[in-house]
Amino acid sequence: MSKVLFVCLGNICRSPAAEGVMKHLLAEQGVDGLHVDSAGTSAYHEGERADSRMIEHAYKRGIDLTSISRGLRPSDLDEFDYIIAMDRSNLSGIRSLAKEHHHEKIFLMSAFCTKYDNEEVPDPYYGGAEGFEFVLDMVTDGCLGLIAHIKNERD
Ligand code: 4NP
Repeated sequence: MSKVLFVCLGNICRSPAAEGVMKHLLAEQGVDGLHVDSAGTSAYHEGERADSRMIEHAYKRGIDLTSISRGLRPSDLDEFDYIIAMDRSNLSGIRSLAKEHHHEKIFLMSAFCTKYDNEEVPDPYYGGAEGFEFVLDMVTDGCLGLIAHIKNERD
């Protein structure tokens, strides 16, 4: 069983969206054998559901966000096969916990995007509705690319 972990700062907006979108796409494509989770480089929102605005925007697309926020743990670096950061700052946070042999499984979400050329999934927390919509569009693009990559590695 391969394991995918999406990581942002608070684990209440971008990475819960990526987790929900990934699970939705895997079910839609009938892909089994993947465990999907998310975490934040900060544990500030530990125990909270995703931001209600993120939940609403995802719900309108038929996607349920069910995750409960948790902080990134050093053991995640051993446990997960793909650790996907939403932005450069998250990437630095993950790398600060990583040992040499972990680095090859740490990626930016944008590495798997084909439609968007932004390097980072922008933090929507202090912005308006369009920011949440953009997060969903960009993580959908990245998740489709990631699924294609994983399928390719399985062949
Ligand atoms: P996320 O968004 O990293 O996508 O979950 C944020 C959530 C909360 C905060 C910042 C970003 N915050 O400052 O509390």
